[in-house]
Amino acid sequence: MKLSERILQIEESKTTGLMDLVQKMQAGGTDVISFNAGEPDFNSPEPILNATIEALKSGKTKYSAVPGLPALRKAIAQKVQTENGIAAEAANVLVANGSKQILYNIFQAICNPGDEVIIPSPYWVTFPEIVKLAGGVPVFVDTREHQLVPELIEQAITPKTCAILINSPNNPTGAVYSEADLRAMGELALKHQIYVVSDEAYAGLTYDGAKHLSLAALDSRFAPWVITSQSFSKDYCMTGFRVGFMIADKALIKAINNLHSHLTGNVCTFAQFGALAALEMDPAIMQQMQETFQKRLDVAYPLCREIFDCVKPGGAFYLFPNVEKYLGERFADDDALAEYLLKEAHVAVVPGSSFGAPGHLRISFSTNEENIRTGFARMKKALIG
Ligand SMILES: Cc1ncc(COP(=O)(O)O)c(C=O)c1O
Repeated sequence: MKLSERILQIEESKTTGLMDLVQKMQAGGTDVISFNAGEPDFNSPEPILNATIEALKSGKTKYSAVPGLPALRKAIAQKVQTENGIAAEAANVLVANGSKQILYNIFQAICNPGDEVIIPSPYWVTFPEIVKLAGGVPVFVDTREHQLVPELIEQAITPKTCAILINSPNNPTGAVYSEADLRAMGELALKHQIYVVSDEAYAGLTYDGAKHLSLAALDSRFAPWVITSQSFSKDYCMTGFRVGFMIADKALIKAINNLHSHLTGNVCTFAQFGALAALEMDPAIMQQMQETFQKRLDVAYPLCREIFDCVKPGGAFYLFPNVEKYLGERFADDDALAEYLLKEAHVAVVPGSSFGAPGHLRISFSTNEENIRTGFARMKKALIG
C-alpha cells in the first residue's frame, strides 16, 4: 500500500481504542454510564422532523444550490444578526456538511503549505488534523484556567501565521471567552493581518448567566478578518443531519464555494429543510433543552468537585477536571485512569491527552440526572472508596 504524505500525517483519534472497549462491554451486557458523548442526548425536535419528512415527500430530493438553499442562507443571516449581533446577508453565509466540513473548507481556502495556525490548548481533537490536511502547521498555545492568554498568543505569531483558531463555548473545557479576550483577538487580527477563525458550535449552550459573544459582532473593523463557524448539530440536536454554516466576507464565501462545488456540492437537500424549520420553530423548545443542561450541570459540578479539581464550565456540556492528584504511583497517566474507570466503575470518560491536555478527563453531562448521580458515585467509590 502507498499513501500520500498528507494522509500519513493525520492521526487516528486517540479515543478510538477506548470507545471500542466501551462498545464491546456494552454489547457484552455491562451497564456502562456514558460520560463520553459529544452530542445532546435529546431527540431532534418534532418541527424539524416534520419539515424534513415533508421535504422528502414533496420531492426535495434533488441537487440544490451549492452554498445552501437561498431561504436557509437568508434565515441564517437573520439568525446571526438577531441572536449573535453579526451583520450578515445571505451572501455572507455558506452551508456545509456540519461545522467539521466548514472548518476543513476554511483552512483549505486560507492556508498555504507551511503556514502556521495558532490553536489554544486544550483544543477539540479535529482542529490540528484539519490544519495539517491543508498543509498548515498547528502551533499550540497554553490557556490559563481554560481562558485565552492574549499575550502568549501574540508571542506565538510569526510571519508564517495565517490564523488563530478559537472555540467558545469550548470543547473540551466548557470555557466561555470574555469580551476583553475576544477583542484582544480581533486587535491581533488587525495588527498582524491574520484571520481569526471562531468556532461557535455550542453558541446556544451557556450557563449561570454566561453570555456567548461572537467576535465578529464586537467591532465592524474586525469583520474582514473574522470567520465564524456555527452548526445545527449541538444547539438544535441535529448531529446526524450534518448541517453547519459559516459567516464571512463575501469574497471568501465565493472562494470557498468553488471548493465546495467540487468537494460535496450541496448539503443533503431535505436536511436543509429541517435546518430551516429549526430556525423558524418556537425558540422555547431549545430554551427548554438549555435549561435541562443547566440543571444537569448543577447536579454534576458539585459531585465532580468531590472527586476532582475542576474549573466550572460556562457553556457546552463538558466538565474538564484536572486529575493529576491521582496520577504518578497510582495511575501512569490520564489514559490509564480512564481505562481504570471504565473497567472498574463502568464509567466511560475521555482522557484529556486526546485534547492536548494530559492530566485531565473530559466528562460529558449530556445524559440524564440519574445517570449523572450513578456515574459520579461509581467513580468516587473506585477512586476514594
Ligand atoms: C468544537 C467543535 N466544533 C465543531 C464540531 C463539529 O460539529 P458538526 O460537524 O456536527 O457541526 C464539534 C463536534 O463535536 C465540536 O465539538
